[in-house]
Amino acid sequence: MSSSEHNENSEHTNPAVDGSELIKFDNVTKRFGSKVVLDNLCFDVSSGKHVTLIGPSGSGKTTILRLLMTLMKPEEGTIKVGGHYLTHEEKGGKLVPAGEKHIREVRKNIGMVFQQFNLFPNMKVLRNLTEAPVHVLGLSKEEAEQRARELLELVGLTEHIDKYPSQLSGGQQQRVAIARALAMRPQVLLLDEVTSALDPELVAGVLDVLRDIAHTTDITMLCVTHEMNFARDISDDVLMFDAGRVIESGAPEKIFSDPEHERTREFLGAVL
Ligand SMILES: Nc1ncnc2c1ncn2[C@@H]1O[C@H](COP(=O)(O)OP(=O)(O)OP(=O)(O)O)[C@@H](O)[C@H]1O
Ligand SMILES: [Mg+2]
Repeated sequence: MSSSEHNENSEHTNPAVDGSELIKFDNVTKRFGSKVVLDNLCFDVSSGKHVTLIGPSGSGKTTILRLLMTLMKPEEGTIKVGGHYLTHEEKGGKLVPAGEKHIREVRKNIGMVFQQFNLFPNMKVLRNLTEAPVHVLGLSKEEAEQRARELLELVGLTEHIDKYPSQLSGGQQQRVAIARALAMRPQVLLLDEVTSALDPELVAGVLDVLRDIAHTTDITMLCVTHEMNFARDISDDVLMFDAGRVIESGAPEKIFSDPEHERTREFLGAVL
């Protein structure tokens, strides 16, 4: 994370360079009616880093991920991913609202896993993983299947390749959802409480897969979780949210062991 290394020309440079800002929120305000959910929010995530968002219910964590998925737009401010504006594009030197084509292109860099796995129920596991790479990225069926097999091995599900989602446990479905997101080779993986809908005994298997991905790939991760031990293991930075603002951020050792703010201490006291 850094707020000082802003590169004005970053939209013209290679976004994948390690250490560059891959995600940048600049004075983002999101309202629902008169309710301000994100309040002039500024933060950034450097390429390859794992950043965890923590904070009380309703503080705006999911809203941040939904903005990144372009499922909604901010009322004010700008968001950049890989040096490109997410909901704006530059035309004739001016910043104008982005068209669908621009949004689709930038969004290809972002994968998301939700609490409710959202797999395609009518497709077997293999096709869940090949559908978007073939139709969105234009991979051949063979290439997409090869990639799918590698990912199923990574998440430990090789023997379930020919099953439908309904034939799998929640933990297995969630591991398919993680593999499906990775099949698009996104630069950023967004994870929103991906274990909170699982039976307790299935949580560890999913977290192990995510730890493995965090430690063996260079994918950038933005993660919302209540699993504080997991957050401590994988995070480079932890951002504590309250009422749509980052009230404290830092290394997990610092935030979890010696937080500065009373609100952070209260929150951690309630969840740890
Ligand atoms: N589509 C919507 N319409 C109206 N209000 C919304 C909408 N989506 C979210 N909100 C409100 O925005 C606020 C932030 O919601 P958000 O889902 O981002 O919180 P969160 O930090 O993810 O909470 P949780 O930990 O419970 O998941 C909440 O007060 C919520 O009620
Ligand atoms: Mg949420």
